[in-house]
Amino acid sequence: MLPSSPRHSASLLPAMLPCAALLAMSAICLSGCGGAPPASFRANMVEATKQQLRPEQEEQVATILLAMFGTPDDPVALPETGLDEAKLRLAAGPVRSDIVGRKNGLFREHCSHCHGITGDGLGPTAAFLNPYPRDYRPGVYKFKSTERADKPTDADLARILHNGIYGTSMPSFDLLGKQKIEALVEYVKYLSMRGETELWLMRAFFDLDDEDEGRLPETREFLVEDTLLPIAERWQEAEDAVIEVPEMPEDLDLAESIALGKELYHGNKANCVKCHGVTALGDGQANDYDDWNKPIVQLRKELDSTLSSLAETSTADMSPDELAEHVREIEWADRFEQVLAGDALEPRTIPPRNLRRAIYRGGRRPLDLYYRIHAGINGAPMPAAKGTVAPEDIWHIVNYIRSLPYGFDGELGADRPLASHGGFSTGSSGVATHTRSNP
Ligand code: HEC
Ligand code: HEC
Repeated sequence: MLPSSPRHSASLLPAMLPCAALLAMSAICLSGCGGAPPASFRANMVEATKQQLRPEQEEQVATILLAMFGTPDDPVALPETGLDEAKLRLAAGPVRSDIVGRKNGLFREHCSHCHGITGDGLGPTAAFLNPYPRDYRPGVYKFKSTERADKPTDADLARILHNGIYGTSMPSFDLLGKQKIEALVEYVKYLSMRGETELWLMRAFFDLDDEDEGRLPETREFLVEDTLLPIAERWQEAEDAVIEVPEMPEDLDLAESIALGKELYHGNKANCVKCHGVTALGDGQANDYDDWNKPIVQLRKELDSTLSSLAETSTADMSPDELAEHVREIEWADRFEQVLAGDALEPRTIPPRNLRRAIYRGGRRPLDLYYRIHAGINGAPMPAAKGTVAPEDIWHIVNYIRSLPYGFDGELGADRPLASHGGFSTGSSGVATHTRSNP
């Protein structure tokens, strides 16, 4: 939503433009001096097309973003972002060493082939991976210690980089060491804030008044106070949004706790069974998409219905105005088709996890499972149990989940741990654990 408050006439851009102009000039020099062309951020074309932005509007967004965030080789962090530019410089740019032999360009060396230079999850390797690498631009993260809708803390992102995401292609970068991981965490946040700012600006055109003539205001108030600050503040507030976890009851009887957890799992409050299935093999509802794939699926649908209605429309009796509108629609649909083919990956459903395989992407400490169940998984269909299950009871669900890979007390098997049958393996297909026959 755009603010209705009067806009200051003092413009932010004059202060920022020299920097933008300088960047543009150095870019010209770099390419003109025979070096490799400088890297550039890719525009969010799916959003631009969805908002039906005109080319000059896309250009305005690019100019503002250049002034506020710089380029992949030369990142800018305005003080309001709270980002540490020195850390960004270690992670940004082409892979190289500085005068003292310190390695720069960490993101491009280690991450961009999956996550893309822009952090849009569209690196060259992305199409071959399942799940797809994360698109940082909406600023949504899954495996964290904070409430569902909140940002991750720095420690959460660092943990992801130290451990990787088990069961996906996201590797561990533990060997890089603390300092480089901190630089990469800062850079991920930078790419998210940039992506969130881009999304916000592209959507802001919709709320413009007639007098704005299709251009966003370029005042400090609009660009910094109304746009950047609210985005940056949500990142800075993450440390205060960490979930309060009650101690696991000390005198807890494990067998009893597992039984209570099982009841909750199958009950209609937590309703884990809806997605993870009676068997916990992940065979419940499995046709949903995550928040990154869902918009693409919807856009595809919209495009298909536009295309079929265009095909059915006869142009024979159209007035010149109607004809012009018809042509515009065809052009838009054509452009949309190209964008979906070139700027988005083929949508994939997100299956509920097979809980008998003991593969926990967000970490396998009981605490990690507590966070996952309490807050759900942001961006994924998995809902928060917070509010429906009492905080202490979440520990019972955690204990039940942790018991699942080791036994099957339903109709398919015995109560004994599968490990005691000598047949349990964590690595192979989860299905193998329930087809094994009882001795
Ligand atoms: C081989 C591909 C690959 C490489 C290389 C890679 N990632 Fe990832 N990354 C992934 C995938 C796949 C996911 C999504 C996992 C999921 O959604 O479960 C992911 C997710 C993430 C997340 C999101 C975690 C969350 O809680 O939601 C962050 C942050 C991240 N990667 C950072 C990095 C950084 C920084 C680097 C470089 C140091 C990097 N990745 C390198 C594939 C990769
Ligand atoms: C609406 C469907 C849905 C419901 C209800 C649901 N889940 Fe999930 N759950 C999912 C999906 C989808 C994933 C996979 C998310 C991903 O891959 O990012 C998942 C993943 C998980 C994971 C793996 C976490 C990790 O770190 O990898 C656990 C554990 C889990 N769910 C437990 C539960 C429990 C316990 C409940 C009930 C309190 C529950 N789920 C309810 C859909 C659901």
